[in-house]
Amino acid sequence: MPNILLVGNGAREHAIAEAISRSKQNPRLFSYMKANNPGIASLSEKTLLGGYADLAAITGFARENKIEFAVIGPEDPLANGVVDALTSCGIGSVGPSRSLARLETSKAFTRNLVSKYRIPGNPRYKIFTDTNGMEAFVDSLEGIVIKPDGLTGGKGVLVQGDHFSTKDEALSLCRQILSDTASVIIEEKFDGEEFSLQCLCDGKTVIPTPLVQDHKRRFELDRGPNTGGMGSYSLPDHTMPFLRPSDLEEGLEITRLLAAALLEETGEPYKGVMYGGFIATKDGARLLEYNARFGDPEAMNILPLLKTDFVEVCRHIIAGELDKINIEFEPLATVCKYVVPEGYGLPADEGGGPPAGARIEIGDVGRARLYYSSVDQKDDGLYLSSSRAIGIVGIAKTLAEARLIADEGVRAIKGPVSYRQDIGTDALIRKRVEHMKAIRPK
Ligand code: GLY
Repeated sequence: MPNILLVGNGAREHAIAEAISRSKQNPRLFSYMKANNPGIASLSEKTLLGGYADLAAITGFARENKIEFAVIGPEDPLANGVVDALTSCGIGSVGPSRSLARLETSKAFTRNLVSKYRIPGNPRYKIFTDTNGMEAFVDSLEGIVIKPDGLTGGKGVLVQGDHFSTKDEALSLCRQILSDTASVIIEEKFDGEEFSLQCLCDGKTVIPTPLVQDHKRRFELDRGPNTGGMGSYSLPDHTMPFLRPSDLEEGLEITRLLAAALLEETGEPYKGVMYGGFIATKDGARLLEYNARFGDPEAMNILPLLKTDFVEVCRHIIAGELDKINIEFEPLATVCKYVVPEGYGLPADEGGGPPAGARIEIGDVGRARLYYSSVDQKDDGLYLSSSRAIGIVGIAKTLAEARLIADEGVRAIKGPVSYRQDIGTDALIRKRVEHMKAIRPK
């Protein structure tokens, strides 16, 4: 009976906890969380609450409970070096060391690595530590994307047309960023459709999981502010309706080349998830960014479909033996919808702002799966925080059925909450297909 440590407290980690619990190895789960996730707690032998910078608490909990290996869910503990701390106690992890987690924690590191190893996929970009040459570079771009160099919770990227209009505004935003961040990346903006390619990596072998599309905008038809992700879908054939097979092949090749480049550059094998955010453009797949972990919500689309024992998958990642295991996923469609507080993602003057701490009730979610995210389980009930509350997932043979199941589930959550109705609908998918048809050469 292996003892496994899970670090993290969101819906992604609830899905990881469920995948661990399904294992035929009868694992015992020990969960370290920054807030009490009732779903993870119900699957755990023991839990400990604490901050993700408290590495002594995490390693102490791991030692005390004779942990065989750890799975690290979110980026913050990776950025703090939790994997290095566990390694120094002789405990392996699914998750990269602090140095390798720069794949996500430093966008400049990743862009430069892709460039240095002549890996395709980068936009035209430049990294600025001061304003020298900034204006000329901005002038040379058709469309502009601005990225602070650091963790931004998926919300720090500024895109021309969405967050600002003119080149002067772009320059002013860059100056603002440089006043509290060491560097800013300015990139060429791509036109296309985004997809998430989450790959498992043991340092040498890279295995793709089913493609997923996330929906970052707060409201229907991709309107409103960017969020951590309002929901996502995947298809039974594990691809996306608006992609050509070459888009997936290119995304996978970029990830394979980058895993090899990381090994060459640092001497350390990357063991964990390389989640590439790609965009299919008229010229093929291009790289938006990498994350050093499963996506949230995307983990909820793929982990429930995993047919192979997840504990065995983790052991193969840590042993550097991913080439020795056949990893399979059910050929089913999934739709994940995040139930969020009504004011989630909105500025204070539009109803957002400090959490109301409102209570919610969960009725019968029917055939849907429910993954708890940022909720607070108190003695007298379940309370919202300011963030995404509950992930509801429908799984079925067709996307339409998966969406119906997810819709049944979200309607069972009562309280001051909302969700995106349009995720996984024919209309939204048609829009994406038409967009790609319009920009691709015949
Ligand atoms: N789905 C966006 C993220 O996990 O960062």
